Amino acid sequence: MEKIDDISKKPGALHRLSESIVNLGGYYRSYSADFKSAPTSDEERELDSLLAGYPRNHDYRIRDGKLIPSYRLYCRERLVTALFPKDMESFLDIGCCRGYYVYKASEKPQCRLALGIDVFEPFLSISRQLKDFLGRENVAFKMAALDEVGEDAVGYGGPFQTVMTIGTYHYLFWGSSRSDKAFFDHRRILALLAGLCGERLIFSARLEMDRLPEEIAAKAEAHEKADTYNSAEFLRVASEFFKVREVGFLGAYPLLLMIKK
Ligand SMILES: C[S@@+](CC[C@H](N)C(=O)[O-])C[C@H]1O[C@@H](n2cnc3c(N)ncnc32)[C@H](O)[C@@H]1O
Repeated sequence: MEKIDDISKKPGALHRLSESIVNLGGYYRSYSADFKSAPTSDEERELDSLLAGYPRNHDYRIRDGKLIPSYRLYCRERLVTALFPKDMESFLDIGCCRGYYVYKASEKPQCRLALGIDVFEPFLSISRQLKDFLGRENVAFKMAALDEVGEDAVGYGGPFQTVMTIGTYHYLFWGSSRSDKAFFDHRRILALLAGLCGERLIFSARLEMDRLPEEIAAKAEAHEKADTYNSAEFLRVASEFFKVREVGFLGAYPLLLMIKK
C-alpha cells in the first residue's frame, strides 16, 4: 500500500477550497453556458427532467449530443476520469446510477464495452433511453447484483480492464432500501471485484460506521459485523487482491486507485 496513513480523515478546508476554485475556473470555461442553456428539442427537454434528481452529484444534461455535467458532477468527473487508463479497453461501473461515467468511458476510442450495473431499474431505463438517443453502440446497462456478474464474468462481457465503484460499496456491504442483497464481508466483495477486474479498480465509498447514510446506519450498528466495517480492515483485505494507492478525496471520502495483483 502507498500513502495511506489514515484514509478515514476528511480533507482539510483549505484543500477543498483550492480544489473548488480550480474546478470552478475550468467549469466556467468549458460547460457553464451549455448547462444553463435551454433544451433545443422535446427529447432534450424530456431527458433534462429524467437526468436530474437524487443523487445530486450525478446530474447532467444533453446538449447537441454531448453530455454536460452539473458543476458538482464536473468536479467529481475530473478526479475520477484522471484515473482512467489512456487506452481504455473495457469498463464496468458497479452502481452506475444514470450512467454518466459509463458514457465517459465509452468515448475512449479503444473501448469495446462500457457496462453499467445497478439494482434500481429507473436509473437503468433512463441510461438505456439515452443510449438510444445518442446511438452509442459500445454501452450497455444491466439490472444485476455484483455476484451475478462476478459468477458469469464472461457472459457479461468481462473481465473488464477497468472496474469502478463509487459511492456504492457501503450498500454492497450492508444492503439498502433499493436492494436488501448484502454481503456483510469485505473479502467476499473484494474477491468478486478482483475476479471481474483485469487491471484496475477505481474506488470511493464511505468506509467508517459514523459516515454511513442514515438508511443503513442503524441496521449496520446492530449487526455482528459492525466492528469489521472500517477503513483499516477494508485496506487490510483489499491488499490481498490489489496494490492500493490513495489518490485524493471525492467529496469527503477517499478516492483509491487499486491495481490488481
Ligand atoms: C450514491 S449512488 C452513487 C452513484 C454513482 N456511482 C456515482 O458515483 O455518481 C449509489 C448507487 O448505488 C446503487 N445501490 C443502492 N443500493 C444498492 C445495493 N444494495 N447494491 C448495489 N447497488 C446499490 C444505487 O442505485 C445508486 O446508483
